[in-house]
Amino acid sequence: MLVLGIETSCDETAAAVVGPTGILSDVVYTQEVHAAYGGVVPELAARAHQERLAPTVRAALEQAGIERPDAVVATAGPGLVGALLVGWSFGRALAAGWGVPFRSVHHLEGHLLSPLLEPDPPEPPFLALVVSGGHTALYRCDGLGRYVTLGQTLDDAAGEVYDKVARVLGLGWPGGPYVDRAAAAGDPSAVAFPRPLPGELDFSFSGLKTAVLQHVQRPGRASDADVCASFQAAVVECLVTRVRQAARGTGIDQIAVAGGVAANSALRSALSSTDLRVHLPPRSRCTDNGAMIASAGRLHLLAEDPPPPLGVRSGWPL
Ligand code: KG4
Ligand code: ZN
Repeated sequence: MLVLGIETSCDETAAAVVGPTGILSDVVYTQEVHAAYGGVVPELAARAHQERLAPTVRAALEQAGIERPDAVVATAGPGLVGALLVGWSFGRALAAGWGVPFRSVHHLEGHLLSPLLEPDPPEPPFLALVVSGGHTALYRCDGLGRYVTLGQTLDDAAGEVYDKVARVLGLGWPGGPYVDRAAAAGDPSAVAFPRPLPGELDFSFSGLKTAVLQHVQRPGRASDADVCASFQAAVVECLVTRVRQAARGTGIDQIAVAGGVAANSALRSALSSTDLRVHLPPRSRCTDNGAMIASAGRLHLLAEDPPPPLGVRSGWPL
């Protein structure tokens, strides 16, 4: 079954074709219009999706060498409602026109299952750490559609804090890759930032964010590189500590990592040096993409699972 997947939940206009042999095409257009505002502007995102979606879908079909897929799936949430509506309605209309099935996909499930697209995929039960701009959570995946939330952030998402730190340092947007790069030249022990670990397996990043923002306003503060490296060391330590605890508590040693922050070099190397079996998608498939949506939708279509209710949703628990 060849499935066209469409993703427009935030600021990436993405389309991909996934089939039995894996990814046939994966086209991602990252909207640049938001950089000037230092954050995603929902109205501009929806308009940019409208402009870019048709050429992006056409490119995905062309690169896959097909004229018509066997099914169409699209992200229905969580995300920005206006942005979601563009991709979801377009996907639904395409499916109706072609006379093929259509299915809504949960954005976080797309991220969570994205390591299954790689060689040597994790096998349920496995742990999954989803760290993105909007979400930071740790799950136990017992099978397709069977996810138990073990812990999640009580306040800010990890990616959101990366973006805020980059903004106060004037590094650019989205901030994660800039902080990641700046950190490479810094000393991770230059500033002793807090490593908040709230109850159970939850996360909390707002105290760390405040500590960084206060530090950079102080006279005689550390260099940007040292601030970035020290901040990143704190984030990575919190994430890796929780992953280890979850592995100990559940007795599961396979961990799939996904979401934009999974592209972070320090997180990747810290996880890789644990004794866990770590499944990390390549960097380009950690951030939002169509392949993860096509793949998650395809798995549910093949399983003939009952479809989620029609419509898009800004909030949608996994
Ligand atoms: O998964 P994603 O593309 O979109 C959401 O669903 O949120 O994640 C975007 C987030 C942004 O906050 C971005 O700054 C962060 O992922 N990010 C990174 C890196 N690359 C992207 N954070 C840290 N290090 C990176 N290399
Ligand atoms: Zn995402």
